[in-house]
This record gives sequence, structure tokens and C-alpha cells, in this order.
Amino acid sequence: MNELALPHPDAPAWADALIHSRRTTLPKRLCGPGPDGAQRTAILAAAAAAPDHGQLLPWRFIEVPDTQRARLAQAFADALLARDAAASAEDLEQAREKAHRAPWLLLAVCRARGGDPEVPAQERVLSAGAAIQNMMLLATAMGLGSGLTSGKALSSAPLRALFGLQPDEDALCFINIGHVREARKPRPRPPVDAYFSCLDENTPATR
Ligand SMILES: Cc1cc2nc3c(=O)[nH]c(=O)nc-3n(C[C@H](O)[C@H](O)[C@H](O)COP(=O)(O)O)c2cc1C
Repeated sequence: MNELALPHPDAPAWADALIHSRRTTLPKRLCGPGPDGAQRTAILAAAAAAPDHGQLLPWRFIEVPDTQRARLAQAFADALLARDAAASAEDLEQAREKAHRAPWLLLAVCRARGGDPEVPAQERVLSAGAAIQNMMLLATAMGLGSGLTSGKALSSAPLRALFGLQPDEDALCFINIGHVREARKPRPRPPVDAYFSCLDENTPATR
């Protein structure tokens, strides 16, 4: 029996501690500076280690630098107005403000349709999720906070236009990364028996 060479003898304990220490840090609890250039490069490269059936590279990430946050803010406001023409000035301001919170802000995009019919949408989205988790785990290992944000604006015409999304692409979520202004307690995790069962000959694999 061959075993994979461990990257380091302590790797299993490190990886376990890292995985369990990741917590969502929402943008309002993040502060600058964002990751430096070398950290950004490493975090983006971590995505490429995700499993990718057929090597379709069905996902990509678009950074929103500080110089473009006002455009994103306008897209958020336009998306809200398209959903609710009576949105108040306060609601619009709140929508705009969301564009400015994260020190480093990326949009995760998935090409869920078209191309190889052997790789359906759910496999492509799974690959994107694995890539995003790789990025967040490396950010956690660097002592940075990270969190995903979503919302109705993601599928809106103003946001799709701003990011130049193709008809076969969907915006999955934003990835927010920065330093942690306010750490949160560990979250109680579901016990393994809440999501694991073993098929046997007598019973169907019910939950
Ligand atoms: C695709 C995706 C989108 C998310 N969007 C939001 C969001 O818009 N707002 C939010 O508060 N949390 C969002 N979350 C984060 C979850 O709320 C968070 O993972 C959950 O509360 C568990 O906390 P933990 O990540 O610290 O374990 C999102 C998570 C995923 C996977």
C-alpha cells in the first residue's frame, strides 16, 4: 500500500486545526489593510487546486478595486430600484454602502451552462465551492478574516452588465477578505451523525 507523502509530519493536525478554525467574518467586521500582493497571489492560486471535472475551469474571480467601488455601489442601488421602485433613500444608501466594506473584494463567477454536457451545472458549482473554500482556508492560515456574501443583486441586470457576465455565467457570491476587526466565537458545528450514514443491506440510506 502506498501512502501519499505528507507535506509535513504535522500536516494532518495543522489541516484539521485550520479547517475547524475558519469562521465567516462578515465585511462589517473586517478592516484594512487587505491581503498584500503576495498574499493575494497565493490566495488566488489556491483556487486552482480545486477538483475540476474535465478541467473545464468553470469559474473565475473578478476583483473590485477601490477605484471601482462606486460603480458597484451604483449597480447595487440600481438593482434595488429595479426590484422596488419605491425604495427609500435610506435603503438605497444602505445598498450602496455594501460595496465599500471589504478591504479585498472578489466576485465569484461560474460558467454553469454550455460546453461539455458530461459535466452538469452542479459539478461546476461544486468545483467553484471547492475553489472558494481553498481560498478562504489559506486566508485563515494567513491570519486573515474571510466571508461570503450574496443577495438578490447578484442575478440583477445592473450587476451582470457591470461585470460583463456572459449568458452562460452566473455570479455565485462575493468573497470578502481583510483583517479581523472583531473576532467571533467558534460556531457549534453539526455532529457527524447529522450528515453521515452508511448504506447496509437492510435499510435505505435515509437520514
Ligand atoms: C454561497 C454563500 C453565500 C453566503 N452569503 C451570505 C450573506 O449574504 N450574508 C451572510 O451573513 N452570510 C452569508 N454566507 C455565510 C454563511 O451565513 C455562514 O457560512 C454561516 O453562517 C456559517 O458560519 P461559518 O462560515 O462561520 O461557519 C454565505 C455562505 C455561502 C456558502
